[in-house]
This record gives sequence, C-alpha cells and structure tokens, in this order.
Amino acid sequence: MDRTQQMTQNAPKESIVDPIAFRVNGRPVTVGSLPWQRLSRVLRDDLGLTGTKVGCDAGDCGACTVLLNGDPVCACLVAAGQVEGCDVTTVEGLAERTSPSGDFLGRRLQESFLSHGAAQCGACTPGMLVAATALLEQNSSPTESDVMDAIGGVLCRCTGYRKIITAILDASTNYAHERFVSPSAGAAVGNRLARLDGKRKIDGSEIFGADETPAGALAVRAIRSPYDRARFHFEEFKAFFRDNPGIEAVFTANDVPGINCYGVIAKFADQPVFAETEARYRGEAVAAVVGDAAVVESLNVADFPVRWEELPAIHDIDTALADGAELIHVHRPENVLVRGRVVRGDVDLAMASADVIAEAEYETGFVEHAYIEPEAGFARRVGDQIEIQACTQSPYMDRSDIAAILGIAPERVRIIPTAVGGGFGSKLDLSMQPFLAIAAWHLRKPVRMVYSRTESIVSTTKRHPARMRLRGGCNKDGKLVALDFAADFNTGAYSSWGPTVSARVPVHASGPYYVPHYRALTRAVHTNLVPAGAFRGFGVPQAAIAQEQLYDELADRVGIDRLEFRILNALDGTTPTVTGQVLGAGVGIRACFEALRPRWKSARSEAAKFNRLPSGALRRGVGVAGMWYGCGNTSLPNPSTMRIGLKRDGRIALHQGAVDIGQGSNTIVTQICADALGAPIERFDLVSGDTAITPDCGKTSASRQTLVTGRAAQMAGEKLRGGILKLARACECASLVWDDAGITVRDGAESHALMLKDLPLDERGYVITSEATFDPPTSPLDENGQGSPYCVYGFGAHMAEIEVDIELGTVRVLRVTAAHDVGRAINPTLIEGQIEGGVAQGLGMALMEEFFPGKGENLHDYLIPSAGDIPPVESILIEDPSPVGPFGAKGIGEQAVIPTAPAILNALHDAVGIRLRKISATPDRVLAAIQTAANQNTTGVSRG
Ligand code: FES
Ligand code: FES
Repeated sequence: MDRTQQMTQNAPKESIVDPIAFRVNGRPVTVGSLPWQRLSRVLRDDLGLTGTKVGCDAGDCGACTVLLNGDPVCACLVAAGQVEGCDVTTVEGLAERTSPSGDFLGRRLQESFLSHGAAQCGACTPGMLVAATALLEQNSSPTESDVMDAIGGVLCRCTGYRKIITAILDASTNYAHERFVSPSAGAAVGNRLARLDGKRKIDGSEIFGADETPAGALAVRAIRSPYDRARFHFEEFKAFFRDNPGIEAVFTANDVPGINCYGVIAKFADQPVFAETEARYRGEAVAAVVGDAAVVESLNVADFPVRWEELPAIHDIDTALADGAELIHVHRPENVLVRGRVVRGDVDLAMASADVIAEAEYETGFVEHAYIEPEAGFARRVGDQIEIQACTQSPYMDRSDIAAILGIAPERVRIIPTAVGGGFGSKLDLSMQPFLAIAAWHLRKPVRMVYSRTESIVSTTKRHPARMRLRGGCNKDGKLVALDFAADFNTGAYSSWGPTVSARVPVHASGPYYVPHYRALTRAVHTNLVPAGAFRGFGVPQAAIAQEQLYDELADRVGIDRLEFRILNALDGTTPTVTGQVLGAGVGIRACFEALRPRWKSARSEAAKFNRLPSGALRRGVGVAGMWYGCGNTSLPNPSTMRIGLKRDGRIALHQGAVDIGQGSNTIVTQICADALGAPIERFDLVSGDTAITPDCGKTSASRQTLVTGRAAQMAGEKLRGGILKLARACECASLVWDDAGITVRDGAESHALMLKDLPLDERGYVITSEATFDPPTSPLDENGQGSPYCVYGFGAHMAEIEVDIELGTVRVLRVTAAHDVGRAINPTLIEGQIEGGVAQGLGMALMEEFFPGKGENLHDYLIPSAGDIPPVESILIEDPSPVGPFGAKGIGEQAVIPTAPAILNALHDAVGIRLRKISATPDRVLAAIQTAANQNTTGVSRG
C-alpha cells in the first residue's frame, strides 16, 4: 500500500547520545547511549548481553535483575546515565564473579540450579540467579524465608519456586550437592538426569524469541483495536509516511498474499491476520507498521490514520445466547461455536433413584498465561522461501498456517523455534508470526517483532471463563449413581481451541470415578472478548473445580470421609469410563488417593486441634481432589515421527521435533531413546525442532510429548539397535558396547567390532538412519460421546492444607501433598518440577488470578503467585505402567495443575464452611461469603 513510493529519504531526528563508561562483568565498557535509555536495553542491544531478560519493562517481573555495585536492581528501571562509573554484573558474568569472601558463589548457584532442576523454561533463571547471588554474598547462611524474600521480586511461572529455593539453600554455606554422574548405557530411564539443555539456561546463552536480531532488521508493530467491537476506515497514508520518517511500510488485510484467515483447528479457522472492516475484540490487529526500530517504537499509535466507530459489543455468555442477539460470526447460530456431549445410561432415572443429591453452580474467569517471555521473533525471505525464527509450541502447525496466509506451499516455509520462555498452551496459536511473514515477504528485508507485556496480555489467548451447573447423586453407601453436568465457556471472538475445550470437558467432567449414569453437555460461546484458547488442561481444571466440590458435598451428606468417598468410587481397570472405555492396565488413581491417606488423617486431626485452640482470626482446613487427563488429541490422530542417525564418530544425532517449552522433553525423549538403543546418553547430539531438519513431532500440548514422541523415540531407538545388530550379523539378544573406536557387539562368546569410520554413509549422511512414527490408538466418539478418546490417562490427587484469616478473608496454603500416577517416572526431578509448577498455577487460579479484559493488562495488576505464596509441596510418584507409553510412561504436564484449585477450595469449605460460586477466592469474596454465612448464622453455602 503505497509502500515504496511513500518511503522518505529523511532519517529519524538525531538525539543526544552521551558516551557512558562503566564496568560490566569486570570489563570496562563505553557505550554511546541516550542517558535515559533503560539499562536492560543497553545491555541487550548495545553490548549483546541477552542473558538479561525483559518480561515487562515495568519492574514487575524481575527477569531483568542485574547487580549494580553488588545490589540487585531491575535493569529495566535503571537509566543508562545512572550507571556511569558503576559496576554491573549480569548472568553472563556470574560464573567468574568472586564474592567479597573470594568465593565463586554465582558458579555454585548455577551448578545447583542445574542439578536441582531449578530452571525449566529458563526465562526467569538469569534474574533468579542474580538475586540469589546478591543474597548469598550478604548472607552466607540464609533461612528459607530469607531466600523467599530475596527472590520475591522475580516471578517464575514454571517451577513453583520450590526447586529454586532448594537450589539456593543448597548452594549456600552448606553446599554439598552431589555432582551429577552420567548414567551408564541402558540406565537413563528413571535417572534424575540434569536437563540436557540446562547449561544454556543457567549461563545466559539460551536464545529466546527476542534474543537475536538479523542485521538490518526492521521493526514491526501492530495497530490494534482500542474497542471491544468497532468498525474502522483507514484514511490516507501519505501524510502518515511524511510525518513519520523511518516508517517503510504499512500492511493491512489487502496485503495478505494468500488467505486472511488462520486457526489451530482447520475446520474452525476464523481469525484474520488483519481485521477487514470490523474488529471483534479489543486488541485485534487491523494493520502493521514496519520501519526503523526507534521510529516504530516511539510511534504514537493514536496518530495512525484509522477512524474507529465503536459498536455495541457482547461481553458475556447470557447476552451472546439471548434470543435475537447479534451474531459475532454470521455462520454460527446463537453465537455457539461448537457443542460437546457425552451421555451414558439414563441420568434422569438414576438421579430419581439416588438416596442423596447435591447440586451447584460455579463460575470461573479468564486466566492469563503470564509466561515470563512475551511473544517475539524475526523473519526473513530467502529467495522464494520464508524463514521465521520465533518462540512457538507448534512449529509444523505454524508452517501450515503461514503457508496458507502467504499463499505458498508449506515446504517454502521454514519455522525455526527458539527456546520458549513458557507457553502453557498460548504459544500454540500464532501471534506475531503472520505479521512478520507478510512484512518480510513483501519487503524482502528481515523484520523483527517483540510484543510488549501489555500487547501480549491484550491480544493472546486466555483460559476459558466457565459457567458450570451440575447435579450429582449417590446411594447411602456412598456409591455414585449419576452426574448431570452442563457448562458454557466464553470462547471470545475467535475459535482458537474452543472446540477442543468443548470436546474434552464432557469426557473428563466425571473426574476419575466410576459414574454409571452420566450426561455432560458443553457449549463454546462467542463474545467480543479476547479469544480463549489452550491453557494447561483445556477446560478440565475448570470442570474439576465444580465436580470435586460437588463430591465433597455428597460425601458429607452421606457421612463418609471425603477421601474415602473418592477411594470408594475411584475408577479401576475393569470399570468403564463415562465414554464406555475400559482401560485395563495403568489406572493408578486409587493408589494416588491411598498414598494421601496417612497425611490426610494427621492433617485433619492437626487442623481440628488448631481450630479448637483460642487462635483468634485464624482457621485451618484440609481439602482433597482427584483428577484424570487423557494424553494427546481427543479421538484424533496426533502422530510424532522421530529420526535418529548414527554418525561415523559414534555419536548419535537425535532429530527431535518436539519443542521443549521448559517441561523437559529434550531430556526425557533422549533418555527414552538412549535406553531403547542401549547407548550412553552423552553420545547424543540434539537436533532440535526446525521444520527444515526435524520430522514432525506435533505440537507440545495435551501432555502428549512423553507419550507420543517418547514412544516414537523408543521405537526409533529399537530400530537403530536392530540396524546395528544386523550390520554385525548378531542376534537380538546381543549387547552393544560403545567405545572410542566405534561399537562392539557382544553376542554370546563372540565379539564384533564395528569400525564406524569405515562404513558407507546413507543419503542423510549417517552410517544408519532410523525413523519411527507413533500415533496413539484412539477411536472416534459416537453421537453420545461413547468410544475411546485416549489410549492413556494420567491420574492424580492433591491434598491442600490451608489457613484462613476470617477477619481479612486471606487464605494461606500451608502445604500441598500431590500424588500422581505417571506410569513410569522417566526423570523424577523433572516430574516433580512439573507437579510443583502445576501446584503454583493451580494455587493462583484458586486464590488470586482473574483477568478482566480492558483492566490490569500488566503484571503489576494481574497477580500471579510469587515465591512467598508457595507452600512446601510433597510429590508422591505412583508408577502404574501404561501398556502403551514408552517404558510405561504417561504425561504429567496438564495433569499437575488440575486438582490443586479444587483441593484448596474444598479446604476453604473445611476451614470456614463457605463455598464460593465465583472463583477465584480473592480476599474480598472470601470475606463477603464469611460475613454472609455469619449473618445467616450458618456455616452453609454462601454466594461470592
Ligand atoms: S523486565 Fe524489568 S522487571 Fe520485568
Ligand atoms: S523457569 Fe521460571 S519462568 Fe520458566
């Protein structure tokens, strides 16, 4: 659109740039910088020290923490002019920094983080390490509470902080953590192996989306709707170009070369790259401005030539469903995107025969993913191909959508995933990639885009708000007979993962129990709000909040202990699920509940004793909740293909297309492959997800990578082993000995030495290449949702002990005990990390988090748990092997978050007798419910 013609020769106005001299990591530097430039920008952009991360640019996340003359500061809040003559230490300098006592504390901390699994995605890790170094330099024997205070300003969304706290304590004067010893060949599975990609996360060298900028890259900035719904018209761009020298181009819907539409589920794809005439939610892009980075950044978007006409918007489910409501998408009657349904037995008849019935209604709000790394990346056109390097959970899905948007074949799109600084589902959807692709394609220049925190919160997907009504019945003996569940999900303006949530929730809303008569109906309903999408659990955490509280009420009414009620009703290998699937082996839910029993009994009696004491405003309670979660896509194919290549030097290339977003798939998949092959793990070279060099391992979501990619890795490893045995003409039972010269195959008394360097190479450049594909076996669901939607389920149960201040309405979680059936614990440290991180997110969901579009679009107002909010978490790993999973393993990623919130909410009822209908249980809601209950002189249900 008038791009090249409108380009101006004028350069941006010169600003006063002062030389600023200071020391960084012991080295003197002088930078020419605006004195008011953020130190974080100077470190990253001028000095290339990208280990210092930027999560908010506002002092809220702490990711940018550096030492300034030995004190921890947020580099985003320090002006470059302030550091003249100062000493700055970043994560890159920690290993060589000596403390006043002459110790290498930073290095110790880095090693301790690695061995304790304290870095997951690694986006917070530099800030954590720097804050911890400052602490240990001033206090060589900190207490746990000192550590929590010291890292209190650094947010982590992955780990749940516990392993970070342990790592810091371990690195203090009592430093005695064991150096990691590599497992021998065949012994990697089950080993607490340090994360194989961990070193880059602790030394600051990991490359995230914003950490590389190609030479000459232009910046891209989206122009977004300021209204929930608005019609818009562009005005003449001529004056805009004239007034903003340095802007090279503006792109709108007219500039999309292919289809101006994308979506994670092709059948429901409905989201335009740029809205065409009407924006359907606040934050929807209508245009992109491309040009010199300084000019684009300083652009006042209010000056962009677009005229808005605000239109009446739909914000809630009831308005969207009301008769005569305007349709947000004309082809979707009643504003319903999709319906979900699972029906088994005769729920009405069974309910009528039940001895006890309980019913309830619960509502949850939007929850923001709040990963520490906002979306970022760059793109360039290489001949007739486009390359996009960006943070993503789903490189191959991105490839397909970008190809359609550009109108080119998928093979002409290369997606190079960077490290992902947390995703939790939201980075499954495209964000900045289409803007980058269109700009690079047209301009034939590299372009880069980094979302601000606000842009990330405003425009990317959220957890679905849910409104759930349910009714359950059981017999006098506590056996469940029926559950009737209905839920509406506010899916926002576009489909994203709404269909998945609607399909998955009816399958899971029973919880991990035998419910003979069951009806679960769901709807995903469009509104003019930010699209809701995938967030750890795909709606199942919301459903668990409802079903687990209802089961507590039923247990109480029949006078059965709440944990024993769950054990009584727990699924086993012979009872059918609500979709009629009999799982056979690998159903460890009863074992999870039973593992909680000792602590349940003691905690209940301790809480009762506490509450009998004259303890002022404090009351204690204990709650339990169960969960199950099907691994992988619901009744749909989701294959992974793994390729491994044996090199002439005896090393093994693992072409691993599964994106590790911090959960540890780079390590776990390698452990599985190593043992299947019978090779030492240090022989492996990871060739990570890049659509040009790795086969498709599908998306990182739905707890599928350990199961699906892991199983493909196991098969590929076994196949490579078979190839090696064939070369040596040895039998299946032979063993492999890996040595410097190659591989020796021991077959009984015989030994065959394979001199790999002398063997011919195949077309891929390997001595042997092995490839295997695994697609989990499922079956389609019929019109009543009957069938086998998943081949493997993970199971778990959490128990929360809490303390409520009845005068303030505050809730403190004192301890969580979490038992999970993981089938086989491939790497117990990484699994514990998933559980602890899940507990932290569940705690946030239960007690503090709710996103209101248009309000609090930053990490100052949107609160996520910090270190001080997290209690000790005891993880109990149950290993009831899956017959399908690699070495019996099941997924754990989504599973870990599901039971925490309902366990806390059940504990809240146990402590003070209230049930909030609107979650989260913020102090104002808790206090109001306590006061209502007090006014009614009852401990019964109160509406929050
Ligand atoms: S980037 Fe500085 S505190 Fe978040
Ligand atoms: S490891 Fe802390 S944010 Fe990911």
